[in-house]
Amino acid sequence: MQPLNPFANQNDDGLATPEVGPWAEEKYKLLFNYANTFATSMKKKWDQRVYIDLFSAAGKSRIRETGRIVLSSSLLALNVTDPFDKYIFCEEKPELIMALRRRVNQDHAGIDVHYVEGDINRMVGDVIREMPTFSKTNRVLGFCFVDPGKMRDLKFTTISLLSARWMDFLILIPTDMDARRNPINYERETNTTVAEFLGVSSWREPWFEKKDTGLSFSKFIARSFHKEMKSIGFHYGGIDETVLVRSAMKNLPLYRLGFFSRHKLGGIFWRDAKKYSIIQTNLFE
Ligand SMILES: C[S@@+](CC[C@H](N)C(=O)[O-])C[C@H]1O[C@@H](n2cnc3c(N)ncnc32)[C@H](O)[C@@H]1O
Repeated sequence: MQPLNPFANQNDDGLATPEVGPWAEEKYKLLFNYANTFATSMKKKWDQRVYIDLFSAAGKSRIRETGRIVLSSSLLALNVTDPFDKYIFCEEKPELIMALRRRVNQDHAGIDVHYVEGDINRMVGDVIREMPTFSKTNRVLGFCFVDPGKMRDLKFTTISLLSARWMDFLILIPTDMDARRNPINYERETNTTVAEFLGVSSWREPWFEKKDTGLSFSKFIARSFHKEMKSIGFHYGGIDETVLVRSAMKNLPLYRLGFFSRHKLGGIFWRDAKKYSIIQTNLFE
């Protein structure tokens, strides 16, 4: 049963429903608009389209200030006009993945869904094994949504391993809600979070150089992440192509959503998704 409006208020079904800030709705609109265009446009061009959600949570979220319940990433992706041929959902909290399973079984029976329970940075091999094998007669294209709450939740090796397959990525870079708050912790030699998030152990020297020129730590992280994506073959449009999401009340920057594809068409879909998502973000900070 498909809701006519994927952004409509949902009923409280009594299952686990994490609370999120109101800004999450901008992220949901961008994700849905991109996934919807991608799934329809690629339907005839590829034999199988796979949606992968590395941080899928429970499928529904409760907006903190208003108490509204809305569909979150995994269930939004199931509600696109031309559903993907396969879905892979990863989540480390058992109560969230259990709630997601119940919701999927209830409203999307018959859809091919695989669940990976645990730390995605350890379980990425399971995701790759679950992807249908690519061949000349079975061309498989993935779209991977990556929504970590903090830099320490994601290791660059995870993205790098997945990128061995044909795959577009929409990645939340937790710049200001994480990086800007903790630069001093991250600068300590014993802290490995940034090295693992960027996949680069020698990040401190360039950071100290940029810091002296007045660059913020969050911009340094966003730029460095893009540079590393370029090094594994993705188009590099610079951070001006990301969407900077801000808090509704204080208008403070929170995070950036960056899109990464090896194909020009992916970038065109991303521009459309940004255009059609009603967002109150500053794209050109
Ligand atoms: C920011 S929330 C993302 C929520 C979801 N994508 C949405 O649309 O609201 C991050 C989720 O990832 C889970 N998580 C955090 N670190 C993880 C990891 N290393 N592996 C798998 N799941 C993780 C958390 O339990 C949480 O549910």
